[in-house]
Amino acid sequence: MAGGTFNIEGGGKNYEGRMITLFVIFTCVVAASGGLLFGYDIGISGGVTSMDPFLSKFFPSVEKKMKNSGDDGNMYCKFESQILTLFTSSLYIAALVASFFASVVTRKYGRKISMFFAGCVFLLGAILNGVANSIVLLILGRLSLGVGVGFANQAVPVYLSEMAPAKFRGALNIGFTIACTIGILVANLVNYGTSKIKSGQGWRVSLALAGVPALMMIIGSLFLPDTPNSILARGHPKEAKKVLQKVRGTENVDEEFQDLIQASEAAKKVEHPWTNITQPRYRPQLVICCLIPLFQQLTGINVIMFYAPVLFKTLGMGDDASLISAVITGSVNVVSTIVSIVTVDRLGRRVLFLEGGVQMVVCQIAVAILVWMEFSVSGVGSLTKGEANFLVFLICMYVAGFAWSWGPLGWLVPSEICPLEIRSAGQAINVSINMLFTFVIGQAFLTMLCSMKFGLFFFFAGFVIIMTIFVAFFIPETKNVPIEEINTVWKAHWFWGKYIPDDAIIDGTHNKGKVDLQEM
Ligand code: BGC
Repeated sequence: MAGGTFNIEGGGKNYEGRMITLFVIFTCVVAASGGLLFGYDIGISGGVTSMDPFLSKFFPSVEKKMKNSGDDGNMYCKFESQILTLFTSSLYIAALVASFFASVVTRKYGRKISMFFAGCVFLLGAILNGVANSIVLLILGRLSLGVGVGFANQAVPVYLSEMAPAKFRGALNIGFTIACTIGILVANLVNYGTSKIKSGQGWRVSLALAGVPALMMIIGSLFLPDTPNSILARGHPKEAKKVLQKVRGTENVDEEFQDLIQASEAAKKVEHPWTNITQPRYRPQLVICCLIPLFQQLTGINVIMFYAPVLFKTLGMGDDASLISAVITGSVNVVSTIVSIVTVDRLGRRVLFLEGGVQMVVCQIAVAILVWMEFSVSGVGSLTKGEANFLVFLICMYVAGFAWSWGPLGWLVPSEICPLEIRSAGQAINVSINMLFTFVIGQAFLTMLCSMKFGLFFFFAGFVIIMTIFVAFFIPETKNVPIEEINTVWKAHWFWGKYIPDDAIIDGTHNKGKVDLQEM
C-alpha cells in the first residue's frame, strides 16, 4: 500500500536455496504487522469518534449537537468539528513529514533500524492514546502513530522486496496490501466489541490495541537481520553475503549475490532521479505519478474508511447498526482487494479501472439521490430500515468498485511504469501526494458534509467521472509489460508518444531485470 508495495519484476530467476526458511516466515510476520498497523489506524478512528463516552470526554460540544439533532435538527452538521477531524487526519500529515526523514534513515542506516523505530513510536502512540485524558495527548498520540506509519511505509515494502526469494517477491508485497485492508477490518471489529464495554472505556482499548502490531514489528525487527542489499550498499560485502546465505538457507548463493552487486552498482549510478523525472521523456510517468494518488483519494474512499460509523450514525442509524455496517464494508474491502489481485494480470489494469470507476459513480449518485430525497437541503429527515439497508448495500458496492480498481492499482501502476532512473522519485511523489490528500480528505470531510450536504456525494462522483475519462484516454495497458519495454507502450500512445524520443526505446533495455532490488 502506501509506500509502494508491488513489484513487477519479482518473477525473475530461480536461485538455489530453500524457499521457505525461518527468515521468510519472519519476513511475512513483519509484512503483516506493517500492513496491519497502517490499516488499523485507518479503520479505528471513525468507530471511536462515533462512541458517546469518547465524545463526551473530549468533544462534549459535538456530543451535545448530536443528541439535540433529532428529527428537527440538521443531520449533515451533527459531527462537524475541526478538532474532531484533526484527531483522524493529524496522523497522515505526521506520516507525510516523517516519510522524508524515513527515506534518508532507511537508506543510510538500513531497513531494520527504521522498522524498529517505527514499532517504538507506534507503541508510544498507542500508549498515549490509550491513557489520554486531554485532546492534546490524543493528538500527540496520533502524531506519534503517524511518524510510525511514515517510517514503516518506507522501510517495510523495501525490506520485503529485498528479503523475499525472487519468486515470492510480488506475492509478499501484495500481502502487505491485503494486510492493510485486514487491519481496517480488524479495527472495525474491535470497535464493535469495545463499544459494548460497560465502563465506557472501550475507546481506550480500541486505541491501545494498536500496540499489538507495533509489538510484532519491534520484536520482528529485533530478531531479523538487515537485508543483504542494504548491508552491501553500506559497504560490507562479506557480511552481506553471510546474511544472504542465512536467509536462503544454503551456502551456494553466488549467482544471486553477483546480481545483488550489479544491482547495487546500477543503483549508485542513479544520481539524479529528481532531475531525471522532469525530463520530457518521463512526462507520462511524472503526470501519472502525480495524478494517480490524487485521484485515488478523490474517489472519497477514506470518507468511508475513516468515517463509515460516523456517516451511518449521521444518517440516523443506531450505535450498533453503525458499527456493524462498518464491519460489513470492511469485509467487502478485503474480499474485493483479493479479487483484484487474482484478476489483475488476466483482465488487465484498464478493465478494472474502468469497471470500478463506473461502479463507483453509479453508487455515489444513488447515495446522493437517496440522501437528497430523505434529508433534502435542510438535513431534516430519517431513513426507514429498508432505506438504511439499501444505503449500506450501495456503499458496499462502491467499496467493492474501489477495492478492485483504484485501491491496489493506485499503488501498482505508478510502481510498474517507472524505470530505475526515476523510480525512487516516482515512488516518493506517489506516497507524498497520497498522504497529503488522505490528510486533506480526513480533515475536510465533516465540514464538507455540513456545507455541501448530499451534494458531497455528487462532488466525489464528479471526480470519479473525470478520473475514469482520464484512464480511458491517458493510461495505456501495462499488463505483462516488462519494465524495459515500457517506453514502447508510451511511444505507441496517441498522446504520450510525442514526448518519447526514438532512442528511448533502445535506451530502456539496460535496466533489464534489476530494478526491483534498489528501491531506496
Ligand atoms: C488507500 C487508502 C485506503 C485503502 C482502503 C488504499 O489503497 O491508499 O487510503 O484507506 O486503500 O483499503
